Amino acid sequence: MADSGRSQPEAGRAGGATASPLGHEQGRANPFSDGSCATRVIAVSSGKGGVGKSTVTVNLAIALASAGHRVGLLDADVYGFSVPAMLGLAGEPSISEAKVTPLAAFGLNVMSMGFFVGDEQPVIWRGPMLHKALEQFLVDVDWGGPDFLVVDMPPGTGDVALSMSQYLPASEVYVVTTPQPAARRVAQRSAYMARKLNLPLRGVIENMSWFNAPDGTRSEIFGHGGGAQLAEELGVPLLGQIPLVAALREGGDAGHPVMASEPSSEVAEVFRHIAERIVGLGRSRVFRQELRIK
Ligand SMILES: Nc1ncnc2c1ncn2[C@@H]1O[C@H](COP(=O)(O)OP(=O)(O)OP(=O)(O)O)[C@@H](O)[C@H]1O
Ligand SMILES: [Mg+2]
Repeated sequence: MADSGRSQPEAGRAGGATASPLGHEQGRANPFSDGSCATRVIAVSSGKGGVGKSTVTVNLAIALASAGHRVGLLDADVYGFSVPAMLGLAGEPSISEAKVTPLAAFGLNVMSMGFFVGDEQPVIWRGPMLHKALEQFLVDVDWGGPDFLVVDMPPGTGDVALSMSQYLPASEVYVVTTPQPAARRVAQRSAYMARKLNLPLRGVIENMSWFNAPDGTRSEIFGHGGGAQLAEELGVPLLGQIPLVAALREGGDAGHPVMASEPSSEVAEVFRHIAERIVGLGRSRVFRQELRIK
């Protein structure tokens, strides 16, 4: 890591057990841990990998920004970051007076571990180092008090997810799933995760719901009804169904998200609809700082 030639968050430079206390331990405030914080934190997560979390995060964040909201995007998938490539972002954020300025793209302020380590480098930090790095992403980054902070959550309930829930105690969890009717298992995992992280589940987003063939026929390649079933199991609304479209994958690979490059497409309309529903849900009233995981 040290020979990457790039500057890194303090945790990366400090090295294991000798790391000095950081963040609020040094008197720097975490703007997102305060109950009066005006930012809604939208944690995009899922019970399984590869279901389109990052794709949803990126396009949903752009949909919120194009509706006039101020939006930050935090890529908390530290080990498997994909947001920089999806947004076509490269390079390092600038640092002045101990504040890190996030990179900007498509109207979003963005922070990702990918800005500090090369694509070719695996992130092999252990829990305490990651914890400090994530803390710096919240405490030392000049987010500018956004209306929404959309977070691409890592899979599962590992160290990163636990740290995120500690630093973002008012996060609202949105679960991305595919339409296979395996809802019960995903529901159990999602509910377990939200309970373990002590965060409210707010809605389900179904991805890869159907495919429009060139002749106009709609095929439900990955089955039918999984999102609705999961939403029912969890007692939260199904906020939208996103079709399987080549442009989403191509846009992600090329760094041109569909929401920005094809704003009048069917899929962009779906993301706009999901964004509107999330705005319409309003903030969660659950904020139980006393129950935060220590
Ligand atoms: N609706 C869709 N239509 C077409 N391709 C999609 C769609 N949703 C996601 N993809 C593609 O599927 C792949 C996986 O999506 P993505 O990386 O967003 O999933 P993820 O849940 O974040 O994965 P991981 O668990 O690895 O972080 C990507 O190549 C993405 O472009
Ligand atoms: Mg991802």
